[in-house]
Amino acid sequence: MSLNSNLVNIVVFASGSGSNFKSIHQKIKEGEISGKIKIVVSNNPNSGALKYAISEGIPIFIHNKVRFHNEEKYYESLSKKLIEVNAELLVLAGFMKKIPDEIVAHFERRIINIHPSLLPKFGGKGFFGMNVHRAVIQLGEKESGASVHFVNKIYDDGPIVAQSVITVNDNESPEDLAARVLVEEHKLYPEVVKAFCENRILWENNKPIIVKGN
Ligand code: GRF
Repeated sequence: MSLNSNLVNIVVFASGSGSNFKSIHQKIKEGEISGKIKIVVSNNPNSGALKYAISEGIPIFIHNKVRFHNEEKYYESLSKKLIEVNAELLVLAGFMKKIPDEIVAHFERRIINIHPSLLPKFGGKGFFGMNVHRAVIQLGEKESGASVHFVNKIYDDGPIVAQSVITVNDNESPEDLAARVLVEEHKLYPEVVKAFCENRILWENNKPIIVKGN
């Protein structure tokens, strides 16, 4: 048996710069997370996430609807890839496309997403990128932050597993707030992935709870 046999097989989905993906990968490289990123899936061939994956020797899979005749073929090709790499945890890190419902059902409690607000506030359709931070400031929220949640069939709706809260500063710009929330994301997401890989996420009444490690 290889020394690495206990590593959880992770598939990362990312469309953008991939800074959350990098923060998780960094912790894996440091030996902090008992997981292995088997592949990075992206709809965006020019994404920073894919560039980083290539530079780190992580296999990539460009998956874009335009290349398929219909929804079913799109789903099948992704599903085939996930089986091929023996995926155990799907990590959505700034992935701008909806995961097909069949995959959400198959990977129930094994898909996580990060969102730059304190869900359920400022989640759902239209709330992505700077839209989130602009709305937080416009509505005069006192706090914002990052949320990690399990994925169900509705955008940003699944059970929340962890949140990081920060105070919104007086007269803060959406850009500054976004940057500060991102710093929180980079701490929070690796912690949740680590807990998952150590089997430390328990479910009680359909609510995920992270239990402390030794
Ligand atoms: C993050 O703000 C994340 O919360 C959201 O998409 C953004 C991705 O950023 N889902 P990055 O590509 O990880 O830098």
